[in-house]
Amino acid sequence: MIKIIPGTKDILPPESALWQKMEQISRAHFALYHFDEIRTPILEETDLFVRSIGTETGVVKKEMYTFLDKGGDSVTMRPEGTASVVRSYIEHNLERVDPIAKLYYIGPMFRYERPQKGRQRQFHQAGCELIGSDSAEADIEIIVLLYDLINKLGVKNFELQINSLGCLENENCRPRYLKTITDYLTGQKENLCGECQRKLEINPLRILDCKNEACKALAFKAPIILDFLCGDCKPHFEQLTGGLNQLEVACKINPRIVRGLDYYNRTAFEVISNDLGSQNAFAGGGRYNKLIASMGGSDKPAIGFAIGLERLMLLLAGQNTIPNKKLVYMVCLGAGVKEKARQLTRTFRAAGVVCEMDYEEKSLKAQMRRADKLGASFVVMLGDNEIAKGVASVKNMVAKSQIEVPFDQLIEHLR
Ligand code: HAM
Repeated sequence: MIKIIPGTKDILPPESALWQKMEQISRAHFALYHFDEIRTPILEETDLFVRSIGTETGVVKKEMYTFLDKGGDSVTMRPEGTASVVRSYIEHNLERVDPIAKLYYIGPMFRYERPQKGRQRQFHQAGCELIGSDSAEADIEIIVLLYDLINKLGVKNFELQINSLGCLENENCRPRYLKTITDYLTGQKENLCGECQRKLEINPLRILDCKNEACKALAFKAPIILDFLCGDCKPHFEQLTGGLNQLEVACKINPRIVRGLDYYNRTAFEVISNDLGSQNAFAGGGRYNKLIASMGGSDKPAIGFAIGLERLMLLLAGQNTIPNKKLVYMVCLGAGVKEKARQLTRTFRAAGVVCEMDYEEKSLKAQMRRADKLGASFVVMLGDNEIAKGVASVKNMVAKSQIEVPFDQLIEHLR
């Protein structure tokens, strides 16, 4: 028997109804902030992710589903959404449409990670990208959007954490911090885990969010980037925290947020929940002011985030929010009534009544049992007698009452 690939999942009913509901709430929420949907392909040129996410990141080095297609081109199944949105933004010259682009996406992403609770190889993200403004006002809007959505979805126990990663342009900003932190960590090299000793050479910032206890302890004592922000990045961060304060968005400043993708500068944030176990971040994002220019577009600043939907679902699973559907079950007694049943169910559905019918000419008892099992609110019974009288027997499954209703009054009755 062929089995599902490790790290991927079937989303079955009734859980799929909860997914639909979560997606509907998210779409409606994004629309309130005037974001429009963008749908990009799952397959992209490998170079897109290598150049945007960064050659030294775990995602690019170890986790990408990359292969040569039959034409010999290297393609990759997208590990995240931002790079594709940026590619599309540049390719379609979207800055011509409006100086600000506000785009959202919902869809599957692929990373070859070790599967565990909350970590899959195919997972889903809902994300927003706001391109064209460096104002802290844009950061505030993006973070408020995310915060209000999480509350609207009904997540109870979460914490929003923010940081600023400064910029690379001003030598006194992140470059000075990088030098300081590298010196500090080099002095402690023998206390770092093997992986972090390697990171020291290529990406020392990532040591700050290592989960190893010894590395964590060192990270807590390390100098923090917020003390190194330049004259542009510092007030930007202060405006952001001020705006969030004013709007009563509960957040914690965490100077150890560094993010796992290389394109970030200034604002970086994550939303975590202690109900999730070790994979505790269910959303993350930040500013990426230089990415668009570095991918061949114009110099457009941007900010965005993505929510991991599987992790969100883990948080919502305990809540019985699966919508109840009102179902009408058509019971057919005998082959002679099929034609009428077929026609009636079509008119029900055209009128918006959810309807299921018997295909197999099962016994009355078997059909009633199925209607009951499916949770039908009404059963519409059709036999030769009913057809002769121009009525159907309608049983209210909740009140357990039964009456005859003329065919032309059925829809009104069922509604
Ligand atoms: P990210 O932090 O890599 O950011 O992913 C965002 C979220 O996707 C994570 O917080 C997590 O909930 C979920 N996620 C990531 N990997 C997995 C996995 N293997 N299994 C299940 N869930 C996972 C980004 O992807 C950026 N593109 C976000 C962004 C948008 N930044 C700016 N704009």
